[in-house]
Amino acid sequence: MTAPQKRVLSGIQPSGTLHIGNYFGMMRPSVELQAENECYYFIANYHALTSSPKAEDLRQRTQQVAVDFLACGLDPEKTTFFRQTDIPQVLELTWILCCLTPVGLLERCHSYKDKVANGIIPNHGLFTYPVLMAADILVYGSHLVPVGKDQKQHLEVTRDLAIRFNNQYGELLVVPDPMIQEEVAVIPGLDGRKMSKSYDNTIELFGEGKAIRKKFMKIVTDSTPVEDPKNPDTCNVFALYKLFATPEELAEMRQTYLAGGMGYGHAKQALYEKYESYFAEMRERRKELLAKPELVEEILQEGARRARATAEAVMAPIREAVGIA
Ligand code: ADP
Ligand code: TRP
Repeated sequence: MTAPQKRVLSGIQPSGTLHIGNYFGMMRPSVELQAENECYYFIANYHALTSSPKAEDLRQRTQQVAVDFLACGLDPEKTTFFRQTDIPQVLELTWILCCLTPVGLLERCHSYKDKVANGIIPNHGLFTYPVLMAADILVYGSHLVPVGKDQKQHLEVTRDLAIRFNNQYGELLVVPDPMIQEEVAVIPGLDGRKMSKSYDNTIELFGEGKAIRKKFMKIVTDSTPVEDPKNPDTCNVFALYKLFATPEELAEMRQTYLAGGMGYGHAKQALYEKYESYFAEMRERRKELLAKPELVEEILQEGARRARATAEAVMAPIREAVGIA
């Protein structure tokens, strides 16, 4: 007998152009999980509102993330794919959880503290963000949540709130497990810090032409002279090459580093070529999808119908338990 399928859920904010950190940290593992699990993936457009985007930008980015995720192999036949804002039950559960959330728990969240430390004047939405994220996860009875390492604490908040709820009202919420991709936990950006749109150090997932090649050439390296041996394990170019290369190609590149006589330009060019070929097929699929906005909308609507049905089944006993139904 096969084990029952796990319900896997993850979300991505439509807050900018997707980069290869997003791809290897979140999108690729999500796509791989589709084969053997019941997956729910959504575009977190309520979350994106916390940074007060312009309406037209938010609409465009939401559409763009939908297209990009589908291009990367998200299969809408297998997976329930939807926009967060199409599921009203999420906000309903958010409020119920808010009323169980100690303010101190949210005050301790690193991502909130970091944003405030960086001079962002926080709105209430930014503060409450982890509760909304908990509701996203709990409202579908999710078992597993694949995310990058930076989201680990938010998963701890989710588990904490689920346990609080269950202690108070009975075992109605599934306490989910995070699934962190340790081996690709943090993809470095052009400057060696975590690749992130907030650091302006990204390599776009679907970059094109001269501009994207230029970015590869800008990856920061040390100043070891061409003829000297180089250390692959401290090199950003090598760290990124690892993501694309086969074990044999990687071993060969390691040798080239250690042997000396290689300029970093050579490694950058090899990395760029790998990037081009790795995403070539997805880039084609993306072009096709961009030409069919109605199809993309239909996929999201169908996903939302399925997600609402699941969310409603979870919410009905919760309303009873808390005394609002
Ligand atoms: P950004 O840091 O560019 O704002 P997000 O916070 O929107 O990216 O991240 C979306 C998803 O991609 C999350 O699951 C996050 O963990 C993952 N992710 C983002 N950047 C990286 C990275 N450099 N390495 C690994 N995963 C990442
Ligand atoms: N906070 C996540 C991020 O910025 C996005 C997100 C929102 C999410 N709700 C979620 C991820 C639920 C996993 C599960 O990347």
